[in-house]
Amino acid sequence: MSEALRLEGLAYRYPDGTEALREVTLRLGDGERLGLVGPNGAGKTTLISLLAGLAEPSAGSASVAGLPLAPASLPAIRSRTGFLFNDPDDQLFMPTVLEDVAFAPLAAGAAPEEAERRARALLDELGIGALARRFPGHLSSGEKRLVTLAGALVSRPRLLVLDEPTAFLDPWARRQLLERLARLEQSQLVVTHDLELVVELCGRVAVLDGGRVVADGPTAEVLGDEPLMAAHRLETPHILKHRHPHGG
Ligand SMILES: Nc1ncnc2c1ncn2[C@@H]1O[C@H](COP(=O)(O)OP(=O)(O)OP(=O)(O)O)[C@@H](O)[C@H]1O
Ligand SMILES: [Mg+2]
Repeated sequence: MSEALRLEGLAYRYPDGTEALREVTLRLGDGERLGLVGPNGAGKTTLISLLAGLAEPSAGSASVAGLPLAPASLPAIRSRTGFLFNDPDDQLFMPTVLEDVAFAPLAAGAAPEEAERRARALLDELGIGALARRFPGHLSSGEKRLVTLAGALVSRPRLLVLDEPTAFLDPWARRQLLERLARLEQSQLVVTHDLELVVELCGRVAVLDGGRVVADGPTAEVLGDEPLMAAHRLETPHILKHRHPHGG
């Protein structure tokens, strides 16, 4: 079976010597949704920058959306992958929200009216249709997150790589997003501290700590392991703690 992501012994050291990733081996099957969790500083955002080609691994290899991770394949990787970066200001660059979201389909060759129609439909679905003509730089944190999410989703990429998709979202927006992600057929790598989101959305979860994958398995098993969670500054979500299967 082809894989959406295959990471083999990936390592990365920042120029100042910080070893952010030491040895990351991870697979994501086609159509699978994998949660990636871990304490602050674990290396999650660094991993996403490598996948997006913003930095080059110091060791190991990877394939993303079926392509080897290498400078020559980066444009193709980016056209097959919807990235949501940690900092929305790295992604928003057009003068209006609508143009920003319509950018990806336009760049992929869609007619301007079609690109705009798809962008509008998605903005409406995420409850931010009213922001279409606003300047992205002036939006609130949650509004920016929703606009960058729309930008990642609009061209229906084969793979979604999302860094903290629910950060800053109000409960309604979080629920809309969760339901939308759950309906998608695409493979998804979801980096998050929202462990309840992982329980609802991802069948599998990997725990990253100190630049290494320290656990990888079925979500209920991994997140339900309280000693494991505590050892990595995580917490078993309530929905896994207080299950009363017989209604008691
Ligand atoms: N530009 C940089 N230069 C040097 N070290 C960095 C740089 N960016 C991140 N780091 C370090 O790399 C390690 C991993 O950081 P990273 O941002 O990948 O963590 P994270 O898992 O995304 O954390 P969080 O949950 O807080 O978002 C941390 O020790 C961090 O201090
Ligand atoms: Mg991060």
